[in-house]
Amino acid sequence: MFFFEVLSSQLFLVIVWSFSTIITSLVSVVSLPNNESVPALFVFGDSIVDTGNNNYINTIAKCNFRPYGKDFGGGNQPTGRFSNGLTPSDFIAAKFEVKKLLPPYLDPNLKREDLLRGVSFASGASGYDPLTSELALVLSLSDQRDKFREYIKKIQNMVGETTTTTMISKSIYILCTGSNDITNTYSFRRLKYNISTYTDFMASQATKFLKELYGLGARRIGIVGLPILGCVPFQKTMRGGFKRACSDSENQAAILFNKKLSSQIDILGKNFPEARLVYLDIYNPLSDMIQNPSKYGFEVADKGCCGTGYFEVGFMCNALSKICSNRSNYIFWDSVHPTERAYNILCSEALDKNINKFF
Ligand SMILES: *[C@@H]1O[C@H](CO)[C@@H](O)[C@H](O)[C@H]1NC(C)=O
Ligand SMILES: *[C@@H]1O[C@H](CO)[C@@H](O)[C@H](O)[C@H]1NC(C)=O
Ligand SMILES: *[C@@H]1O[C@H](CO)[C@@H](O)[C@H](O)[C@H]1NC(C)=O
Repeated sequence: MFFFEVLSSQLFLVIVWSFSTIITSLVSVVSLPNNESVPALFVFGDSIVDTGNNNYINTIAKCNFRPYGKDFGGGNQPTGRFSNGLTPSDFIAAKFEVKKLLPPYLDPNLKREDLLRGVSFASGASGYDPLTSELALVLSLSDQRDKFREYIKKIQNMVGETTTTTMISKSIYILCTGSNDITNTYSFRRLKYNISTYTDFMASQATKFLKELYGLGARRIGIVGLPILGCVPFQKTMRGGFKRACSDSENQAAILFNKKLSSQIDILGKNFPEARLVYLDIYNPLSDMIQNPSKYGFEVADKGCCGTGYFEVGFMCNALSKICSNRSNYIFWDSVHPTERAYNILCSEALDKNINKFF
């Protein structure tokens, strides 16, 4: 018996060791404080963090075809991730030493171990505004919350209620959405809202969702702000005039919303002292990357790698599109979404200095 325990604990160490070696070869190392360990990662939001849920939904907001996934795994594996390779859900899972790839919850082939280490509930083209997901026929935040409820029931059946409660409270949660509200849905909402009241509405939706997550037992939650939306290649083409300048109104909207979001998070944090709510800024890191691409080893910042790079995204970026030869030189993979390499840098800039705040 003793021998067996020693043997199995050795085996466990070996497995943990090889797992962390695989992880650290991909992402920059950050150590978790006080020997903390994170049982699982749960992600909610839009295409930045969808790892393939939309593959199983009847929507045009998909990317489970070439050239998406050009550099995923052994190459040419379109998984439904909106990039050429790994996306923030994967990088964040690795940073918290949870797993290498975060699977989509809707994948019908998920195994017990997959579920126990966490999943993504995110759905490309959704937003804080319920109208955003309605327009694209994808999962709204309340749909994603309902799936999380369903998930908790499944886990309770597997490992019992007590273990589930502990696991839910010690896991990491990431919320990353809102871009589509500003870039798409706001134009349909103009009769009812101006940008000031619309960003108030978005922030109130974020608060509502965070309270619900807290009510379901989540305690360690990271909330990602909006990126520098007006400097994304697609927006430069659509709204930047002949010179494809950055769209100032969208940048101002993103800044305004981020301010409201982070102050809401501060207020919530005071109301829920046992929770850790961490605002994660990606606006400034992406802005610096776009203004100084060479500082990060990039050559191209103003267009995507797929097709002309000016407008292709989703079904417009497809098997017929020509792609750039070296994705590592591009910040953007399509006209909206960063490349794997840019995502990796952004995740480090947003998260590394904030890791301790989760514990
Ligand atoms: C972390 O774990 C190691 C090995 O088990 C131990 O030596 C160390 O004191 C622990 N550190 C803290 C801060 O608990
Ligand atoms: C936006 O609408 C609100 C309420 O209708 C109004 O009080 C506010 O002045 C408007 N803001 C701007 C910038 O137009
Ligand atoms: C792609 O570009 C990166 C960065 O400029 C460089 O290190 C790498 O060698 C290039 N890869 C190929 C296959 O050319």
